[in-house]
Amino acid sequence: MERYIIKGGKPLDGEVEISGAKNAALGLLAAAIMTDEEVTIENLPDVSDINQLIDAIANIGATVNRVDRHTVKINGKTINSCVVEYEQMKKIRASYYLLGALLGRFKNAEVALPGGCAIGSRPIDQHIKGFRALGAMVDDENGHGMLIAKADRLVGNHIFLDMASVGATINLMLTASLAEGKTTIENVAKEPHVVDVANLLNSMGANIRGAGTDKIRIYGVEKLHGTTYSVIPDQIEAGTFMCAAAATGGSILVKNVIPIHLECITSKLIEMGCVVTEYDDAVRVKAGDVITSTQLKTLPYPGFPTDMQPQMATVLSVATGYSIVVESIFENRFKYVGELNRMGAKIQVEGSTAFINGVKTLKGATVSAPDLRAGAALVIAGLMAEGFTTVEDIVYIQRGYENFEGKLRGLGADIEKVSDDREEQKFKLRVG
Ligand code: EPZ
Repeated sequence: MERYIIKGGKPLDGEVEISGAKNAALGLLAAAIMTDEEVTIENLPDVSDINQLIDAIANIGATVNRVDRHTVKINGKTINSCVVEYEQMKKIRASYYLLGALLGRFKNAEVALPGGCAIGSRPIDQHIKGFRALGAMVDDENGHGMLIAKADRLVGNHIFLDMASVGATINLMLTASLAEGKTTIENVAKEPHVVDVANLLNSMGANIRGAGTDKIRIYGVEKLHGTTYSVIPDQIEAGTFMCAAAATGGSILVKNVIPIHLECITSKLIEMGCVVTEYDDAVRVKAGDVITSTQLKTLPYPGFPTDMQPQMATVLSVATGYSIVVESIFENRFKYVGELNRMGAKIQVEGSTAFINGVKTLKGATVSAPDLRAGAALVIAGLMAEGFTTVEDIVYIQRGYENFEGKLRGLGADIEKVSDDREEQKFKLRVG
């Protein structure tokens, strides 16, 4: 099984290019099947989540031309099935975006119900509530694990979400874009990737207003047409490298970003003693002499992103004094804390709150990634720890970070992806 071996203690210095946003690209790919014309999506991140959703799209019969690792041409004209099997859903939860897309275009969709995952139960009741408000019959009980949605007509309606769900906002935008009349969705998610999907749909001929605000208005159209669209940069990948600079006492120029998408991460790092300089499409993070403790609470955008919580808590594990991290979005997103404490951190979790007593340094150890962002956080821990760290189960990390170890090596990190003990020994001898 592949794993990362890291020799910690080196400040990371240099420049890193950020890839396209995974969580935008997943919604964009689903939107691309909503027309019988060709849609080209550029700047895709080359990560397993994206590659698996592209497979799922090919599985329902769409014509898929993978121009290169970062570009795909999709033509939904040849779609011959509205059924997304469990095998696909098991690989990538966001296959449920195909539900919203197929329902919108064909008024018929059958998608395996997503289970929970490492960070929480993650129900889709808000998605279902919205589909029903648009006139769909949704059966999530008798489908033997499949969610069945059908509609004679889809008619615009007023939908008020119980919480600012990213997935529900994107899924309902997809379906409503081809419904008859006006749909208003309130209490929506405002993440950059929601705006990106709305922008793609509008470039395909949809009429969506207000994405990025608390209320989205969608005026349904008859049909959508082809287009070419480029994915926005990944704010979470960018934030992960910003945290790596802070944690290792380095200075990194994080390139190909939209600084306004990073504002809550930037302001938190400044509070912690970093110097952050913003440019048009880059930010430079220079670590301070010490990391100052602070408090943070994860919130929907523009609040502090839950997807940055493990990485930030890891930086705070070596801050001076006490820090508090409150996870308000998911109910089980502290699974990495046990692994950090095995590296010498002093973190206590009570419910949705982590109490962090900063220590001087972490000690390298063998740890296991429990999920995508926690895995990235454990790599950051290894980069700043004394000695060698092995991070196992890196398949989680490869879901959302393109060439993670290569980008880190480009910043001076001693990190290698190895498959066996021989490769591990070779690395350890080389870095000494
Ligand atoms: C998206 O998940 C992201 N995934 C997650 O990123 C991210 O953590 C999350 O948004 C929050 O920003 C993708 O975009 C593919 P939600 P999503 O619906 O859409 C509850 C990563 O690391 N909820 O905004 O599933 C839910 O349980 C991943 O890249 C309901 O109760 O998140 C959660 O507590 C991890 N009912 C909260 O809302 C619903 O119908 C927010 O979930 C929907 C959600």
